[in-house]
Amino acid sequence: MAKFFINPNNKKGHINPELQGHFSEHLGRCIYEGIYVGEDSKIPNVNGMRKDVVKALKEIKVPVLRWPGGCFADEYHWKDGIGPKKNRKKMINTHWGGVVEDNSFGTHEFMELCKQIGAKTYVNGNVGSGTVQEMSEWVEYMTFEGVSPMADLRKKNGSKDPWKVDYFGVGNENWGCGGNMTPEYYGNLYRRYQTYVRNYKPDAPIFKVCCGPNVDDYNWTDKVMQTCFAAPEFLHGFMDGLSLHYYTFPGGWENKGSATEFTDKMWYQTLKKTLYMEDLINHHTAIMDKYDKQHKVGLIVDEWGTWYDVEPGTNPGFLYQQNTIRDALVAGINLNIFNKHCDRVKMANIAQMVNVLQSVLLTEGDKMVKTPTYHVFNMYKHHQDAELVDSYLETEEIGLEDENMVPNLTESVSVGKDGKLHITVTNLSIKKAYSIDGEIAGSKIKSVKGEIVGGEIHAHNTFAKPNTVKVNKFEDVSFKDSKIKFKIPASSVLHLEVTTA
Ligand code: AHR
Repeated sequence: MAKFFINPNNKKGHINPELQGHFSEHLGRCIYEGIYVGEDSKIPNVNGMRKDVVKALKEIKVPVLRWPGGCFADEYHWKDGIGPKKNRKKMINTHWGGVVEDNSFGTHEFMELCKQIGAKTYVNGNVGSGTVQEMSEWVEYMTFEGVSPMADLRKKNGSKDPWKVDYFGVGNENWGCGGNMTPEYYGNLYRRYQTYVRNYKPDAPIFKVCCGPNVDDYNWTDKVMQTCFAAPEFLHGFMDGLSLHYYTFPGGWENKGSATEFTDKMWYQTLKKTLYMEDLINHHTAIMDKYDKQHKVGLIVDEWGTWYDVEPGTNPGFLYQQNTIRDALVAGINLNIFNKHCDRVKMANIAQMVNVLQSVLLTEGDKMVKTPTYHVFNMYKHHQDAELVDSYLETEEIGLEDENMVPNLTESVSVGKDGKLHITVTNLSIKKAYSIDGEIAGSKIKSVKGEIVGGEIHAHNTFAKPNTVKVNKFEDVSFKDSKIKFKIPASSVLHLEVTTA
């Protein structure tokens, strides 16, 4: 029996709702078809946004949405996406699949989408191929209330009131698709561009995200923190967040493998790669600590998730993949890691929301399915805006190969504003269930409600069978006073809601 200690009186930090954020790019069928079908579509929509998709996203409480990319962001010129749709430029999406981008989804449509799903806005600006003026004018267009050329243009285009931009990314992957820059060069550009990301609403300042490292590029973190944040003190206002991108490629970039057909070895290899997220957060945090001991700058993991070979027969540039119980585990493990590091990680955005990479929803014509990853987000939503509490779960190493051994279990525990405890546990074993013997210090347990996502590791939802994987009730739990016992089945993600006296 694994021992599990929880101390609700020892609060470890606030879990920003944004740790469960999402990302939507002009890539494949994410925006077009997946979210936006246009006002004239036969698919039921409100102002062009699919009703089924919006309803599903509201249910999981999407806290924040990043847009328009990704690599697309550093080629995006926002003025192409405003004004009467018939006049908007048509162009080729050179980065993703060479398809026509008609710009029918632009700034106004993004703001409408965020309003419909109730999400905060995270807009990613263009440093790679855009000018300082262009970025500055976009911010003015979106957020300035008074009289100005850009505010007037916005009004002319139908939005009298400015919108709130909660987060603004100054470039994306500028070490790669965003301009192939060195950290010193980008750091100086960041200082310049961010100057003109004006805060027109001093009571609701824009949170500025500086482009951070690719995976384990610690030199990038070091140089950029030094250039954009270190002494003198006045630099501190220059940046609120530093991004980190890390994807789980099961066999590396060259050998991603199929989303649905994988061996037991590849299961453990995938989970091992996912767990690497914690090493990355620890190492980047240690470097950030050198310059920012007080954790003023948030680590923003604004791209994470699985990346497999595309589904056979689909456009290789569309990154469309299925989603199995393996993805449910990847989601549960990552979200537990983000919770545990909520003192530094202030936002994380799964890539991507619909029809691209590790999506929560898949669509085909007027049909939509919720993926196993969706169901994990639905269970974890109770951690949003909660306080992380001290917890420790005994684990053992499992796996099939020395280099891919993983802990059998991961966990995180929070206490919500309503005083309820939320415990989420992942079981990484393909075959073995584990009995857990828990102690919630200083508590008298009154009731426990459980829900679980799990099953055969390849299980997934299709348009013909949309409910193969769903959230099921979990009842294999007992409690007395401060003690709680439960048995978590193999390959599953569990959520327990505990009420105490
Ligand atoms: O999410 C797909 C792509 O992955 C993004 O456009 C880019 O930022 C990253 O390399």
